[in-house]
Amino acid sequence: MVTAALPYANGGVHIGHLAGVYVPADIYVRYLRLKGEEVLFVCGTDEHGVPVTMRARKEGCTPQEIVDRYYKLIKKSFEDFGISFDEFGRTTSETQTKMASHFFKEMYDKGVFEEIESEQYYDEEAHTFLADRYITGECPHCHNLGAYGDQCEKCGSTLSPDELINPHSTVSGSTPVKRKTKHWYLPLEKYQQWLEKWILQDHKEWRSNVYGQCKSWLDMGLKPRAVSRDLDWGIPVPVKGAEGKVLYVWFDAPIGYISNTIDHCPSDWKKWWKDPETRLIHFIGKDNIVFHCIVFPTMLKAMGDYILPDNVPANEFLNLEDRKISTSRNWAVWLHEYNADFPGKQDVLRYVLTANAPETKDNNFTWKDFQARNNNELVAVYGNFVNRALVLTQKYYQGVVPPLGSLTPADEQTINEFRDVKSRVEHLLDGFHFRDAQKEAMDLARIGNKYLAEQEPWKVIKTDPERVKTVMHLSLQLVANLCIAFEPFLPFSSKRLREMLQVDSFAWEDLGRTDLLHEGHQLGKPSLLFEKIDDSVVEAQIQKLKDMEKSNASQQPTQQEQESKSQDAAPVSPIQDPCTIDDFQKLDIRVATVKACERVPKSNKLLKFTLDDGLGERTILSGIAKHYQPEALVGKQVCFIANLPPRKMAGIESQGMILSAIAPDGSLSVTSVEQPVKPGSKVE
Ligand code: MF3
Ligand code: ZN
Repeated sequence: MVTAALPYANGGVHIGHLAGVYVPADIYVRYLRLKGEEVLFVCGTDEHGVPVTMRARKEGCTPQEIVDRYYKLIKKSFEDFGISFDEFGRTTSETQTKMASHFFKEMYDKGVFEEIESEQYYDEEAHTFLADRYITGECPHCHNLGAYGDQCEKCGSTLSPDELINPHSTVSGSTPVKRKTKHWYLPLEKYQQWLEKWILQDHKEWRSNVYGQCKSWLDMGLKPRAVSRDLDWGIPVPVKGAEGKVLYVWFDAPIGYISNTIDHCPSDWKKWWKDPETRLIHFIGKDNIVFHCIVFPTMLKAMGDYILPDNVPANEFLNLEDRKISTSRNWAVWLHEYNADFPGKQDVLRYVLTANAPETKDNNFTWKDFQARNNNELVAVYGNFVNRALVLTQKYYQGVVPPLGSLTPADEQTINEFRDVKSRVEHLLDGFHFRDAQKEAMDLARIGNKYLAEQEPWKVIKTDPERVKTVMHLSLQLVANLCIAFEPFLPFSSKRLREMLQVDSFAWEDLGRTDLLHEGHQLGKPSLLFEKIDDSVVEAQIQKLKDMEKSNASQQPTQQEQESKSQDAAPVSPIQDPCTIDDFQKLDIRVATVKACERVPKSNKLLKFTLDDGLGERTILSGIAKHYQPEALVGKQVCFIANLPPRKMAGIESQGMILSAIAPDGSLSVTSVEQPVKPGSKVE
């Protein structure tokens, strides 16, 4: 059972979403299907909650109109990119209303929830409680007058509505009053011990970013979380005395995975969600970790007879041209626009996003890199090898697979090299290392190119035509192997390649074999798998980004960016996932005095520092040459990390790292101490 996070139905899908969640999930599912595993891949849109109501209010239409529009757009974008969901449903479906109500009711009857009364802001003119986002006022920190009840966008601080100076409602403009309201809470703290064992002991294999985030949540101690809201858009809380209250969108949405499964296979959905033999995998972005690793599992546990996730491979975020993706500033590449600009090139984007997958840290997409990977890898390596093999076979043998003669040591070596690609790729895919797995597939094409370059069939054909038959036979086997190895990653290209090879389908089991295309088999007509992308094309895309951004410069961030904490262009970068005090104490940070500083010859980035670190002399290289004249730093004190392993750069060993502050606009300042201290002093 594989799920991919349900996108909010209040906007389109961009490359950040695709890279973080949907492409990796699709690769994984296609791989499992090729292996003949029984797998179900479920997604859909997340249609309740404040994000949708905000969008509707902004556009002056109903929430229903918003979700209908974006459901269609999102579904089509995914289809266009070959994201092969078995079911793509909606959280406004009838089944979902039933299922989410059933979850609430059952947990309510079991006495799982706590009922807690609290005071919340209420708009007396509009007769409605106000979600944090619907309250604005003055920021207590920077005195920005347009801060929101959950955050000030100017200074980036997280707020609660109580902190706002002079709050008012964005619904009616009036000053809200405090009113008592009752909500149901999921007492996560009662599940703390169970979660600690289940995650920290039993799932040490989870990705370190996921495991680490769970651990810090658990270390901080879990608290009750409200699962209802005062809102008029959502699934009504199905108990007496809950008029005007709906299920919190994060209680509702993950249940969508289950109800979409039910809609797909009403009679045997239970085998996907209740059979202990079933493995459940959630693909998500890092802002969804707590909900998928702590809250939803707690709900499933409280229900009693559901399985729990086996793994939750969450990704970090993708930047665009070195900046955070922002939907409000329109600093994004939207899938429907990419498709219009690059028809038929879905695999190129899939390839580039996987090659830059933000698996362990945030990663970056640039149009230049997109072009380079297309031209230097897809065209020059994969496409080139396949094309040479097919065209030569066409030329020498009219496209009929020639026989295999006796093998030379070079043939044997090539066969050996690609025989274990299967186990290597499998190992990587099983561990959710999609980037490295795709690299293995590309390396296979490199093996092919090397083989052809060394064997030179176009020369040998004149002196030893028998030998060329063997070379071409083996090359074609390699082409077939590439078709299989790339199938999960580049499904459109593999399909076209299969047509050229005149083969209906391959199985994953065939990977590594050298008898996939038999002697005498007639191949189809070869055509190019990939084509070069010109400078002008990517330059136009960069220009388009800049223009779009300008025309949107005055817009406020959308609610989607707030609620999902997704990829907004904040003025300063967001705080990273928590680390422990132990993590911090591993770093030996100290102060040193700069004795000498000079440019590193032939490098326009590096400065070479000679430091007095209190124990003697230490050399550190720092990539800040664009920001400082070296002379200006001599005599200053700087902070540096003293216990990093030495690293060679530009032929010089660097013994640590000097710390600098980097402003959002890219300007840089070396860190120092407020008053001179003895060199070697520790920074704690
Ligand atoms: N809509 C949420 C977001 O975009 C994700 C919901 S995932 C689900 O961040 F599990 F709740 F469905
Ligand atoms: Zn502020």
